[in-house]
Amino acid sequence: MKKLTFKSPDETKSFAKDYASQIPNGKVLALIGNLGAGKTTFSQGFALGLGLDDSIISPTFKLVSEYHGERMLNHIDCYRLDSSRDFLNIGGENFLNCQDGVTIIEWADIIKDIWLDDWIIIYLDRDESDEHTRHITITQNA
Ligand SMILES: Nc1ncnc2c1ncn2[C@@H]1O[C@H](COP(=O)(O)OP(=O)(O)OP(=O)(O)O)[C@@H](O)[C@H]1O
Ligand SMILES: [Mg+2]
Repeated sequence: MKKLTFKSPDETKSFAKDYASQIPNGKVLALIGNLGAGKTTFSQGFALGLGLDDSIISPTFKLVSEYHGERMLNHIDCYRLDSSRDFLNIGGENFLNCQDGVTIIEWADIIKDIWLDDWIIIYLDRDESDEHTRHITITQNA
């Protein structure tokens, strides 16, 4: 388990950008955190690290987006889903084994019952006293 603190959106993005280069294709990243915790900001940095433009990932709700760069990025936002059943109904499982890239899932706690052991689980929390600080915990089994 890795615990990190980032004091600005740029720090979060820059970490996520470098982190992307350590993540092999086929991986799923599950992001968990409240509104404004930084899930989309993290995803934007990650996109940069995959050779994509960060502006492709907008904070506006979109269920599933697929991006083709040097490596692929699938971005899924479960915010409006009620359960993993909804996720499966929209074909979510088709994104969970992407051989050409990585899948990031925001609000992944909503589909917790279908998490797999090889997913990377990333918790994001706002700092209690500083509005520009976020605490990020990364847990990885395999
Ligand atoms: N250290 C930080 N890391 C990331 N974002 C930060 C940080 N400090 C401030 N922010 C701000 O917090 C907000 C995070 O918004 P973001 O859309 O990334 O959150 P989110 O977790 O995706 O929220 P939502 O649940 O609405 O999708 C942005 O406005 C960002 O600029
Ligand atoms: Mg978001």
